[in-house]
This record gives sequence, structure tokens and C-alpha cells, in this order.
Amino acid sequence: MQDKVPTGLDRKETEVYRHLDRGRLPKHIAIIMDGNGRWAKRRHLPRVAGHRAGVAAVRSTVETAARIGIPALTLYAFSEENWKKRPQSEVGFLMGLLSRYLKAEVPTLNKNNIRLEYIGRQHELPTEVQERMDWAREATARNSGMVLTLALNYSARSELVDAFRSIVNAAAQNGGLDHLHIDEDTVGRHLYTRHLPDPDLVVRTSGEMRLSNFLLWQLAYAEIYVTPTLWPDFRGLHLLEGIAEYQKRERRYGGLNHSDAHPEHSSLATKS
Ligand code: FPP
Repeated sequence: MQDKVPTGLDRKETEVYRHLDRGRLPKHIAIIMDGNGRWAKRRHLPRVAGHRAGVAAVRSTVETAARIGIPALTLYAFSEENWKKRPQSEVGFLMGLLSRYLKAEVPTLNKNNIRLEYIGRQHELPTEVQERMDWAREATARNSGMVLTLALNYSARSELVDAFRSIVNAAAQNGGLDHLHIDEDTVGRHLYTRHLPDPDLVVRTSGEMRLSNFLLWQLAYAEIYVTPTLWPDFRGLHLLEGIAEYQKRERRYGGLNHSDAHPEHSSLATKS
């Protein structure tokens, strides 16, 4: 049973996959794709060449995640800060790259039964990009496999601001603030990610140890895996290595591990 490997994995991926516990795969993986600029600089190429090369990494990572049955994958494609603080020429390039990616990739997404979603302030993006995004979402809407969510013009703090506004608006239309009851579920239902479980694993490439305003509410209990690999060099194999590392960790959600909670069962207690 342990030997059944999904079709499409290459030899190295298969080797890592065979050692994974299929019953404990993360249900949602979030990735901070970083290092495109450095990848290009090392090759004396313009920064945008790094972004272009990053598309192959997206393709490989998405396909591998879908093949092994990860239910949800979220990619931080660009932040609100990237959008507002980078030169217009680079932002324009990224917009074109995204549009071309969506057009080219929809058949592959459909072949792999992947449904596309977005998080971020989509309404601030150029109209033609929004139209392409809507088209791609609609074209994959009936797929029932992995949900691929692209974070575009995304900021976790803006998401929380939008959620609080949305909670107050909903209350205003439903009896007023006097009846307002807020708990964690209420906040969760008003986040952009209401269609997703919280990520179990967040991966960041290029060695940086920051969350960079990404899913701050949702990553409360996520395991963090940082790899020195620059995003354009990242492939499905690296994702599997991240999952292997995740499976070595013990998730406690603020509780105790088993032997601390039940010292009478630990080997030391039985010896003494
Ligand atoms: C971070 O690298 C990467 C980005 C801001 C853009 C991410 C875009 C892609 C991976 C390609 C297109 C994506 C899709 C979904 C089609 P950086 O420029 O901050 O790198 P640096 O820190 O080395 O400068």
C-alpha cells in the first residue's frame, strides 16, 4: 500500500514521496515566493528575468502539490507593498506575466482538476487583468480537486481592516451593533480566506525569516519552513522536502507534548 505513488512524479520526487506519511499531509500549504531579483542579479540579468523564470517554479510546484493530493495551496504572488512601492515598469511586467500565465495555464489546471481563487484587493488591479482573473476563475470553477489561491495585491493588515469593516457592515444590515457578537469564527468568516482551512505549513524561499504581512491571522499555528533555494530554482521536489520536514515536527497548538502531559507513560518514569 505504501508503494503506491501518484502518477507524474519524477524519480527524485518519488524517492522523497515514498518516505512521507500519506495520512499526515498538510491540508493547506502557503508559500512566500521570494528571491526572483537575486536569482536574476547572480546571472547579470534584469530583475524581470527572475520573475519570468519564477513561472516555471509555480508550474512545477502547483502540479506536484495537486498530484500528491494537497487540498489547498496558496501562493503569495505579490503584496500590496510590491504593487505600490516597485517601479511601474516592474509592476507592469508582473501584470503581463500574470495575464499570460492565466491564459496559458487554464488547460493544465483543468487537466489536474485544480480550482483557482484569489485573495487581495483585486478591484485595485488594472481592469483587463481583473477580467482575465475572473475568466480563469470561472473556467476552473467546476474543478473539485486542489484549490490554488493566488495572493495578488495582498496585505494581511488590509485583509483584517476589510474583515472588520465587513463585520460592522453586516451588523448594520442585520439589527445594528447592539446585537453584534464577535468571536474567532466571526473574524474567520469575514477574511478573504473564508473558503480555506488555516495553513498547516508556510514555506518561504531565499532564506528570509519574515512573514512579510502574509496571512497573519491564518498562520497562527502554522509550521514555518525556510529554504535557501531562490524561488526560480524551486520545484515540486523542494515542496516534498518541505513536507518531509513538516512531518518531523510535533504540533502542539499551545498544549504539551505527549510525554510531558503524561509523565507516567514516559520511559524515564517507568525506569524510576
Ligand atoms: C519576490 O521576489 C517575487 C515577487 C515579488 C513576484 C512573484 C512572481 C512570480 C513568482 C512569477 C509570476 C507568478 C505567477 C503566479 C504567474 P523578489 O523580486 O522580491 O526577489 P528579491 O528579494 O531577490 O529581490
